[in-house]
Parts: sequence; structure tokens; C-alpha cells
Amino acid sequence: MSNNKVTRRQFLSYTLTGVGGFMAAGMLMPMVRFAIDPVLQKKDGGDFILTDLAVADITEEPTRVDFNFEQVDAWYSSEVTSTAWVYRNGDAIVALSPVCKHLGCTVGWATDSAHPDKFFCACHAGLYEKNGKNVPGTPPRGPLDMFEARESADGLLELGPVVPNTLA
Ligand code: FES
Repeated sequence: MSNNKVTRRQFLSYTLTGVGGFMAAGMLMPMVRFAIDPVLQKKDGGDFILTDLAVADITEEPTRVDFNFEQVDAWYSSEVTSTAWVYRNGDAIVALSPVCKHLGCTVGWATDSAHPDKFFCACHAGLYEKNGKNVPGTPPRGPLDMFEARESADGLLELGPVVPNTLA
């Protein structure tokens, strides 16, 4: 007779441990998957957003372009409207962010009659040149950021991530 006999108590203990572990894993796996789900999501190609503006219609006069995109923040997604000031600079398309570098108000082109050729922030009378450079002596301490910009296959303007101003 062998001494390796499994007692009824041991058999029950092994069986309950195995079944319990299996059930615990079955409950935990969906929770872990849910917790890290945003990390596992595949991003669709590119960060550029298509606008309604035809590149052929862009002039040297800054024009306000509103565009919508879906913003995903972990599990929460929402439709966001943003704005760019777009104009042509030779062959290049310039798309400036409207966010004032002082305290974040929205700037407008030629909205101050005393400075018809500048971006103006009405919150504290901030001024920027056409290329986004902040005018010394006004509150902003840096130039307006800019969007990466390109032309789509259909000839429409696409706007990409906000990057530091390279013109000012
Ligand atoms: S927020 Fe634009 S000047 Fe202050």
C-alpha cells in the first residue's frame, strides 16, 4: 500500500481551491480588461482633422475656421468645437491658435479698430502680429501657438496638433 493516498479532506481542499481560483480569475479578468481598456484601444490613423475650408479659398487675410472633433478622455468621449485663424503665407498655410498666451482668452483678427492689422485679445488688450508674435508692452509673454496644417486629397484644409510658433 502506498503512503501517497489523498485523504477526503485534502481532495476537497484541492478541488475547492481550484474551483475558487478559476472563478476568481473569471471575475477579475473583465475588471482588469475594463481598467486598462483605453490603453488597448486602436487609434485610427493620424491626428489631423478635416475642415470645410478649401485650400484654394485661403487668402492672405486671416480667416476664422471653426472645426469639430471627437475628444476622447479615457472612457469619456465628447464632441468639441475648436477654432483656428488661417491664412496663406506664400506657398505655406498658416493656422494660428486663438488661445491668448497671457491668460487663455480668445484672440480675434482686426477686432481692435486701433490695430486693424493685428490679433487682439479683449480681456487685457493683448496684441499679436499677423504671424502670432506677441507685441512687446502688452500682457502676452509669448507668441500664439499654431496648428500643423496640410491639404487633404480633396483639396480641403486639415489641421493637426498644436505646436509652438515657428514664424515669430
Ligand atoms: S488673456 Fe489675453 S491679454 Fe490677458
